[in-house]
Amino acid sequence: CGIVGYIGYQDAKDSLLQGLEKLEYRGYDSAGIYVMDETATGHLFKEKGRIAALRNIVDSSIAANVGIGHTRWATHGVPSVENAHPHQSNSGRFTIVHNGVIENYKEVYAVYLSDVDLHSDTDTEIIVQLIAQFVEKEHFSTIDAFKKALSCLKGSYALALIDNEQPDVVFAAKNKSPLLVGKGDGFNVICSDAMAMIQETNQFVELMDGEVVTLTQEAIKIENAVGEVMERDAYTAEINLNDLDKGTYPYYMAKEMDEQPAVIRKIIQSYQNEAGNLEIDQAIVAKLTASDRIYIVACGTSYNAGWVGKQLLETLTHIPTEVHLASEFGHNMPLLTKKPFFIFLSQSGETADSRQVLVKVNDMNYPALTLTNVAGSTLSREAEFTLLLHAGPEIAVASTKAYTAQIAVLAILAEVVGKTVGLSEENNIIHDLGIVASSMESILSEKEQIEKLATDYLSTTRNAFYIGRGIDYYVAMEASLKLKEVSYVQTEGFAAGELKHGTIALIEEGTPVIAVITDERIAGHTRGNVQEVHARGAHTIVIVMEGLEQAGDQFILPKVNPLLSPLVSVVPTQLLAYYTSLHRGNDVDKPRNLAKSVTVE
Ligand code: G6P
Repeated sequence: CGIVGYIGYQDAKDSLLQGLEKLEYRGYDSAGIYVMDETATGHLFKEKGRIAALRNIVDSSIAANVGIGHTRWATHGVPSVENAHPHQSNSGRFTIVHNGVIENYKEVYAVYLSDVDLHSDTDTEIIVQLIAQFVEKEHFSTIDAFKKALSCLKGSYALALIDNEQPDVVFAAKNKSPLLVGKGDGFNVICSDAMAMIQETNQFVELMDGEVVTLTQEAIKIENAVGEVMERDAYTAEINLNDLDKGTYPYYMAKEMDEQPAVIRKIIQSYQNEAGNLEIDQAIVAKLTASDRIYIVACGTSYNAGWVGKQLLETLTHIPTEVHLASEFGHNMPLLTKKPFFIFLSQSGETADSRQVLVKVNDMNYPALTLTNVAGSTLSREAEFTLLLHAGPEIAVASTKAYTAQIAVLAILAEVVGKTVGLSEENNIIHDLGIVASSMESILSEKEQIEKLATDYLSTTRNAFYIGRGIDYYVAMEASLKLKEVSYVQTEGFAAGELKHGTIALIEEGTPVIAVITDERIAGHTRGNVQEVHARGAHTIVIVMEGLEQAGDQFILPKVNPLLSPLVSVVPTQLLAYYTSLHRGNDVDKPRNLAKSVTVE
């Protein structure tokens, strides 16, 4: 979910709706805004579906200078108008938006609100009813009621509250969910991320967990959990508005796939010093070389990039590396070695599953590095070290350029650390990444061939398989995630040799099986697995490195450093997912049920 708030002199509706459109990647199953007009009358608009649907029902004639808004990714309660935010107290006096999950909302209801009728299935409604209760029955001031309500809650929240009787104030609070305050000239805003309000201001103030904020048109007051007033300077968010535009592309995913060669070149440039050598913060290199094991923690596509990272780090640095799903790691921590070093991979830098692990790692005083695309994001601020991906904003929910950027930055990190410890001397990753960028360009110029494969093999199928061995298996995992995310074809990525131990039972006449073969040492084995499924009726395609091709339907990849092969072998699989989604008539950029940045555990 994402939230926004505006208080100032301009049209709040417009600012909120524009902000929500930019936050839509956080969820898009329903949305709403609440604005106060000049006569201090409140107007609530909520709609199921996208922000565009909300726009249609907002009365454009209302003149409002204050308001709050929300775009939802359902956790408690189905997507519906009733469950959409903002939520109101029964008196109608208080209105709230919330990103996060209140874990003890049932207990709070039982203790404080058992005689209150609820109008939604959400955990959020409890908060606003509780605030109203403290003000209306126990005669607290609104700010005190807000703080008291927060002290009753367990869980995560970014909140914005409006009290009809104080129309010149917006109250906000944060715990575990992201929230920023934006400072303007004669106005102030709040938002889940800077991108949402970059059209209003580029001056943002970070908030810490437990803080409560009172915003007026002219002032921002931040209080910490014990009521001390905090002074904090704003930082300048470096976001280029043009990067948020999809230009002539029909979908962001198409644009972002095409940007990959330029992103690789940008990464090379960003990590190169004046002498043309790769350079990484010495403190990171020192801690890494002193560590006895690397733990990579991530979710989704970033997790898949982590597996390629493991291969790179182990090969180039000889430091054993484990890859873990953040959602598992937090609750079922593996035995750690004496000197662990943690790497968090997160495009957004906001994923709650990853963050909860980072909080634990920080508590244990272990070094942590975040690789993220978003400077100033929560995981970047909270980890000891950050390396940026330099991929530019990634808007499509299905991640493409962030995956390849993560691998490229990990390759650079691995090489720098490797060379520091006297390994990988003969490697030249700068040169090899340059070849990767050109190879990506040549693959991207063959879209027609890939579109034809998508039409022939995937446009009507119910399920599909990607197979590979070693590094190709890691790509198969990502390729299958991409295909299922955007096309809804049930797809699995399998270790090619493992398929025969059970899953081969699913192969029927016509089941598409796509093999990735880039490593000549195991090409013969994977070819054998392709034959096994072919013999059982599968329709097979091979994505194959130049020099390893054979007869049959295939897509040939230009030759690159075998360690970097995922950077090129993944590109046709991204395109296959894209065209399959397009042919099936899906919304490529906003697949059903998903959100780009999931800020709940
Ligand atoms: C969500 C997105 C995925 C993404 C994952 C991790 O589930 O839908 O595309 O890979 O989060 O996101 P992160 O920002 O931490 O890389």
